[in-house]
Amino acid sequence: ESILVLFGGQSSEHEVSLKSATTIINHMDTDKFEIYPVGITKEGKWLLYTGNNLDFTANRWQEVGIPAVLSPDATTKSLVVLKEEEPPVYIRIDKVFPVLHGRNGEDGTVQGLCKLAEIPFVGCGVLASAVSMDKAFTKIVVKEKGVPQADFVLVYEREMKNADQVVAKVEGAFGYPYFIKPANAGSSVGISKAHNKEELIAGILEALKHDTKVLIEETIIGREVETAVLGNGDVQVSGVGEILAAAEFYDFDAKYNNAESKTVVDANLDPVIKEQIRAYARDVFEAVEGKGISRIDFFVKEDGSIIFNEINTLPGFTSISMYPMLFNAAGIETRELVTKLLDFASL
Ligand code: DAL
Ligand code: MG
Repeated sequence: ESILVLFGGQSSEHEVSLKSATTIINHMDTDKFEIYPVGITKEGKWLLYTGNNLDFTANRWQEVGIPAVLSPDATTKSLVVLKEEEPPVYIRIDKVFPVLHGRNGEDGTVQGLCKLAEIPFVGCGVLASAVSMDKAFTKIVVKEKGVPQADFVLVYEREMKNADQVVAKVEGAFGYPYFIKPANAGSSVGISKAHNKEELIAGILEALKHDTKVLIEETIIGREVETAVLGNGDVQVSGVGEILAAAEFYDFDAKYNNAESKTVVDANLDPVIKEQIRAYARDVFEAVEGKGISRIDFFVKEDGSIIFNEINTLPGFTSISMYPMLFNAAGIETRELVTKLLDFASL
């Protein structure tokens, strides 16, 4: 099978994607799969890498890559290589693995292109990806399933013309401190915590740099746990891992730059609580109509109650990422995991 692996991308998680793609490509079974790695620059340019340095964080794919695009034409099902002054070359593609995090990759956009091309792809479809990328819509859909989650208020950019009114709306809903998040952004970008009115306004303005809609949540004090989902229909749910963050919360820096942040693949929790988390993960995946892959994150409060936090439909696959580690702990090596994900690819 010929596999188009997309990586990089125009999101704030471009660098994370380079790491994820490096892990995935190095764990693809080359007896089974022919790999076509296409990096997307931060400007949105698509480049096919034909060299043999498979560390995409270090190699010069941006300089040496050849322009190549996935055609939306369903009759060709091809990657079209566009070398200067040469006729286009069509490479037939059997499946796409979008190893892209965040905007223009995890949000249904690339999934839509694959659908147009009629090429099966790894992971969630257009709707599940879009709903899961938007923290506000995720909350609305998950609420229907009865999975417990933090109270929230939405603030739209246009409302900030009257900041005092926004403050009154938020303060009227629940008390400080608040978590402030752009509705669409991954890897904790643009997130802050507010303990007072000044921090609330500053936090909203910061979040608005990333999106036009901001989610403000009551602060949940609890342990951060994560679980991984694999498959279609009757999915496999991993064990429950835990983030032991070094910072006040697991922000971008704590996640990728702080050696003190630690993860464990088997959280030290009551087995009954762990089973409930896994059941909720199944519910959330079903609620968004997920497919193939997702990592679903929760909080566990001191009294043992479980609160849904978020779903990531294309979770990180770096060497320190929870998704592969959780399945490794369940006895599925990364190579086998990557093969399974490709086998579960669908339209
Ligand atoms: N959004 C990052 C990649 C994650 O959740 O793993
Ligand atoms: Mg994310």
